[in-house]
Amino acid sequence: MAAPVVLITGALTGIGRATAFAYARLGAELVVSGRHQDVGNALAKELGDVGAHAQFVRADVRLDDDIASLVDRTLERFGRLDVAFNNAGTEGQPGPVTEVTKETYAATFDTNVLGTLLSMKHEFRAMRAQEGGGSIVNVSSTYGLMGFPDAALYVGSKHAIIGITKAAALEGAASGIRVNVVAPGFTQTAMYERVTGNDAVRNAVNSVLPMHRPGTPEEIAEAVIYLGSAKSAYVTGQAITLDGGLMAGWPLFPAA
Ligand SMILES: NC(=O)c1ccc[n+]([C@@H]2O[C@H](COP(=O)([O-])OP(=O)(O)OC[C@H]3O[C@@H](n4cnc5c(N)ncnc54)[C@H](OP(=O)(O)O)[C@@H]3O)[C@@H](O)[C@H]2O)c1
Repeated sequence: MAAPVVLITGALTGIGRATAFAYARLGAELVVSGRHQDVGNALAKELGDVGAHAQFVRADVRLDDDIASLVDRTLERFGRLDVAFNNAGTEGQPGPVTEVTKETYAATFDTNVLGTLLSMKHEFRAMRAQEGGGSIVNVSSTYGLMGFPDAALYVGSKHAIIGITKAAALEGAASGIRVNVVAPGFTQTAMYERVTGNDAVRNAVNSVLPMHRPGTPEEIAEAVIYLGSAKSAYVTGQAITLDGGLMAGWPLFPAA
């Protein structure tokens, strides 16, 4: 089978970066995207060093023109787009609902929700025009499945991503475009470090996680690769939760 052409947003760090290396090891042709040209060029070189054909394209997912050009440049370089991992996201400015403003709303929703919508808009354009369709993987969170205090904007944005994934899956199904979502729990990245803030909080989080540890970016990447591959050919409109059991129950009576 020909190497898949894979586009990853928010690829310069964390889950996006780990997924780029996982695909590189599989021999994929990669377009990695983010907002920092120098870091992006360095990443493309590192991916080349492990044998991938990789190109960095700068794009801010909040901007329609940036995403249009990101997809166009993917097509120019590799001729098609098989898998799109819409991973760029932000925790925004956490705080109580009483402190929400238009600015804090935009700081979260413009990247997480509008960014995912704009990405899918242009990815659909590319995938509809090619034989075989394609696979889109969006990113929600356990915050997209339940509430957390002082995080209403992030919680709302990640719930929204599950909803728009289902709608897009229905729109794409007849043309062979599958759209799914991964919902990571706490995952060891810079975002996790920022949100938890210090070791005391991280230890408290670990104590209620059934596996007593956060996930790794590489563990999330495995689910993205599954959803991007023909092994999930009949899976669309679904959310795969990777949370070490967090959503399975309420840790009132922790296991011994
Ligand atoms: N870590 C967790 O515990 C966890 C759990 C559930 C879900 N997630 C989700 O997983 C995804 C990846 O997060 P991560 O944990 O890997 O954290 P991360 O390292 O902070 O990655 C987020 C990436 O998105 C990029 N980004 C943010 N806003 C952007 C924009 N407007 N345009 C383009 N790129 C932008 C960031 O780059 P900049 O440097 O340009 O900001 C960064 O590279 C996010 O959608 C996050 O919500 C994370």
